[in-house]
Amino acid sequence: MDLFSFTEICLHQLKMSGVHEGEKLVVLTQGSERLDYADAFMAAGQRLGARMYHMRLPAVPPTGAWAVGQTGLAAMPDAVDALKKADMLIDCIFLLFSPEQMAIQAAGTRILTAVEPPELLARMLPTREIREKVEIGGEMMARAKVMRITSPHGTDVTYKLNTYPTITEYACTDEPGRWDHWPSGFVFTGGDDDGVDGQIVVAPGDILLPQNMYVRDPITYTIEKGWVTDIRGGLDAELVKSYMAAFNDPRGMGMSHVGWGMNPHAKWHGMVPGEFPGGMGMEPRSFYGNVMFSTGPNNELGGPNDTPCHLDIPMRGCSLFLDDEPVVIDGDIVVKELQMERH
Ligand SMILES: [Fe+2]
Repeated sequence: MDLFSFTEICLHQLKMSGVHEGEKLVVLTQGSERLDYADAFMAAGQRLGARMYHMRLPAVPPTGAWAVGQTGLAAMPDAVDALKKADMLIDCIFLLFSPEQMAIQAAGTRILTAVEPPELLARMLPTREIREKVEIGGEMMARAKVMRITSPHGTDVTYKLNTYPTITEYACTDEPGRWDHWPSGFVFTGGDDDGVDGQIVVAPGDILLPQNMYVRDPITYTIEKGWVTDIRGGLDAELVKSYMAAFNDPRGMGMSHVGWGMNPHAKWHGMVPGEFPGGMGMEPRSFYGNVMFSTGPNNELGGPNDTPCHLDIPMRGCSLFLDDEPVVIDGDIVVKELQMERH
């Protein structure tokens, strides 16, 4: 994407994030990655009269795995202090799950993560409608005490919801201390530490992230008191188990966030060769009517598990109930106030 077009979509983003004259913004990158993002955001911010600079960390060697929560900022408390003094941080590294991100948010700096390919950012711009619907979904989730998920493939799992807050993601952020991720469009929370029980059958066409692949044969998870106790199936199950075992951390078997997708611009089918623009899979996390569960850390929600072993698994065709009231039925949102037309 050329700088002019990239600047235009960043301008839309910063307006949706309430950026105004005199605000202090920092764009964070590392190594030679996403330097064009910094250029585009800085050009956009200047047009809104923001005071901006670009903080660039040294490159880090690739680890081969998606180890969440470990960032180059950890060794640089001075840099963290500078980011705490900003009104808004545009994170082009992916700081999520790190203690540094939590400290920066706690200081009142709002954070927008932008790491996905520019063509995806352009196709999934934040809108007022998505924000409004996601916020309504978040309120419904926050009131609920129990979430139950079922599917025709045999999923039947219950999350008790007495502990953790609800998090909304609608791809822009205009409130102090609030984090969001562009692109997105979903809501999630976490079950009580010992309050998730049942079975989840990940079915063909469901998606493994960070593997960025469609499941071909069912993977059956057994969950007892908040922990995965068994993963069974064919090749896909073996891939998941082998990936998790490589972290050598039993806390990877914890149950992480859970919720549903609400973005009518996100496509389920786009993660195929020739179409997939690369990136970390925010489109499949967001597609309208998906139900996403995940395993691993819950520190993002305030919980004790900070394992770096994290999988997100968006599923099609599920039904989701809050206190026995249907929200998603067979992969379609059935609550009138949450419905949007798919594009
Ligand atoms: Fe996740």
